[in-house]
Amino acid sequence: PQRREDIVPRSHTASDEHSNDNSLTALRDEAADCRACALWKDATQTVFGEGPKQASVMMVGEQPGDKEDLAGKPFVGPAGQMLDKALKEAGIVRDKVYVTNAVKHFKFVPRGKFRLHQKPATPEIKACRPWYEREKALVQPELVVAMGATAAQSVFGKIVPVGKTRGRVIDLEDGTRVLVTVHPSYLLRLPDEDARLREYANFVADLRIVAAHLS
Ligand code: URA
Repeated sequence: PQRREDIVPRSHTASDEHSNDNSLTALRDEAADCRACALWKDATQTVFGEGPKQASVMMVGEQPGDKEDLAGKPFVGPAGQMLDKALKEAGIVRDKVYVTNAVKHFKFVPRGKFRLHQKPATPEIKACRPWYEREKALVQPELVVAMGATAAQSVFGKIVPVGKTRGRVIDLEDGTRVLVTVHPSYLLRLPDEDARLREYANFVADLRIVAAHLS
């Protein structure tokens, strides 16, 4: 006969408490079916975090972009190339860090043949936060790096100003150590070359602080 558990539908929410699997792969599989907000409807797939389970550093971005949505991997598009370059310059091997996003589905509006990135709204950030929390609980990083306002909002659980918090290690009440910095896309959007070079150097300087936490 069918057991009761078999006929209970699986809960498609980010805070599914029925799972007792503690591996990242199982968590990723669970997130693939996430329906905690409406973003799954138009996105190609859930883009889950990637990197070693033992990583001492967890880097958090905003949400997958067009390229990430198609590839199913975080930070593989233009922002990812900027991140890779800066990590290298700071002496960080990307494969040694765990890279994820605050929101795991691509939010966009169609414009002709393009899909224009849209900033995630607070309800979407909140709905997705349990995935970040569960990733963090499994990876147990020494340092979480919040890149940009959306990541900082998810990591702190509230809106925090990036400009005032960036560049120093902050201890949260739950024991999480956080370093806030800018999002690599911000560097790509800066209109003039001087600002780009200056902000890139500041980003690399933040990443050098991160490098000191790598083990
Ligand atoms: N921007 C992000 O915040 N994350 C990605 O994965 C790609 C671009």
